[in-house]
Amino acid sequence: MEVFIAPGYEQISRIAARIVADVLNAKPNAVLGLATGSTPLGLYKELIRMHRDEGLDFAQVTTFNLDEYVGLAPTNTQSYHYFMRENFFEHINIATDHIYIPSGTTSNYHAFCPWYERRIEECGGIDIQILGIGSDGHIAFNEPGSSLRSRTRLKTLAKQTIEDNSRFFEQPEDVPVYAITMGVGTILESRSILLLANGENKASAVAQMVEGPVTSMIPASALQLHPAADVILDDAAASQLKMRDYYEWVQQNKPSAPRS
Ligand code: PGA
Repeated sequence: MEVFIAPGYEQISRIAARIVADVLNAKPNAVLGLATGSTPLGLYKELIRMHRDEGLDFAQVTTFNLDEYVGLAPTNTQSYHYFMRENFFEHINIATDHIYIPSGTTSNYHAFCPWYERRIEECGGIDIQILGIGSDGHIAFNEPGSSLRSRTRLKTLAKQTIEDNSRFFEQPEDVPVYAITMGVGTILESRSILLLANGENKASAVAQMVEGPVTSMIPASALQLHPAADVILDDAAASQLKMRDYYEWVQQNKPSAPRS
């Protein structure tokens, strides 16, 4: 796991966008794993800007999203289908039949989940997976206690996640209790991983992910097992790291370190 620290949200978004653009420039038909939430919004904005101003091309790209709430139709403004359309897909030249997001409305989850896994494989596997982290250490909707070998499945959300995400809904009772999510095992099969975190409320989860033991109680700590995981943090999210000086030293002296 490599840790990069930048002063603020704009910088981490720019660094992440540059890394994703490098993947696309090297492999125009790359498969991207995408995330929702507040964290990747700046990254999507920057990729949209690169598409508009620099011709970054998504024509051959395929995407797989991490998760979706159960019970929300794609037209629901709180659904992740809607989020992705509004905040990213509508603004780039991606083919709609190259977009995969778990279905929140399928009547047959038992068939859907293995199908989703198979589609990822058939498309050649994920080249780079974007991740945020929950304040409880989750990745996608893999809540504390999720098996580190879990696959795409139906998952009950933790109370903390429902509380954290209630800011997007009119009332807390409106937050769905179930989601369909890629598993930790699914995520670990991506060729590379890019986890972004910003803000003080992520600092404890980030420190446990990077410097704590690998444990299903902090599902993000499984990234320690991945050979190519980059963690990009703003100042506040990095504030509880014990080895911060070391990461900054490496970042300053490593020729291949990404720069904002
Ligand atoms: P956030 O969510 O980006 O909205 O903070 C991250 C997550 O829960 O994975």
